[in-house]
Amino acid sequence: MDKDKVITLLNHDLEGEHGAIIQYLTHAYAMGEGEMACEVEAIAREEMRHLDWLAEAIVELGGVPSLERGKMRIGGESVVDWMKNDVLLEEDGVNLYQEHIKHIDDPKIKRLLERILSDEESHHGDFQHFVDKAQREGARDIRGTRTDRVVQTLNWGIEHEYTVILQYMFQSYMTTNKEVKKELEDQAINEMQHLSWLAEKIVDISANPRIEHAEVDRSTKVADMLRADIKIEQEVAAAYDRAAKETEDPDLRELLIRMRDHEIYHTEVFSDLLKKE
Ligand SMILES: [Fe+2]
Ligand SMILES: [Fe+2]
Ligand SMILES: [Fe+2]
Repeated sequence: MDKDKVITLLNHDLEGEHGAIIQYLTHAYAMGEGEMACEVEAIAREEMRHLDWLAEAIVELGGVPSLERGKMRIGGESVVDWMKNDVLLEEDGVNLYQEHIKHIDDPKIKRLLERILSDEESHHGDFQHFVDKAQREGARDIRGTRTDRVVQTLNWGIEHEYTVILQYMFQSYMTTNKEVKKELEDQAINEMQHLSWLAEKIVDISANPRIEHAEVDRSTKVADMLRADIKIEQEVAAAYDRAAKETEDPDLRELLIRMRDHEIYHTEVFSDLLKKE
């Protein structure tokens, strides 16, 4: 199989991982705190590692990692239904990896996909177990229906965080500058924390986190990347600052100020890197 074909298959796998991450996070947040939510979130983190390995393999082959999100099995009325959907999504993944392993000859890529496949088989078993557990424990959807301005602001925050996570990860794959790559990876992890905090807060105040992203900057020159990053960091720092001043909820204010300070830090890190360019 030629290289371009392999890149296409790996990008398909990567999109599947992206969809799985968002599906599982959506379910974990909607269940609130608790053991099962933590376990589902841990599986989402393993899918993030898969996504990362696939993206690095794609770049090594000379390809560009896809930013598209694959099919999700969102829907279902109860936690039991969600866990059944997660079982089905893992089945989709297992089938796809088995198919791709059959068709790819490159031993290194084959080994990578086999490694991922064994994780997916294990997740499949985990989710089957969660179907029973959800039934037994009567796990429920704890999201509410609040849609006021606070909820809108927090969901705007999620949209921003999701966008920069994709942007910094994409840039970290595309750059050959080691220092820039490392900072982008670090900040992406920090933005993942922000996304979790926001989603948990939204569920906490009886609303529904909306995990969608805005347009991702796809600059490939380091200076252009950093300029785009600085611009978006400045915007979000100002937005969190404004929201912190508006809110009367002291916990929310603390959260917003903490994130604002992180975003200011990110702006400074990126500005220093830009000066060196
Ligand atoms: Fe995966
Ligand atoms: Fe952030
Ligand atoms: Fe940031």
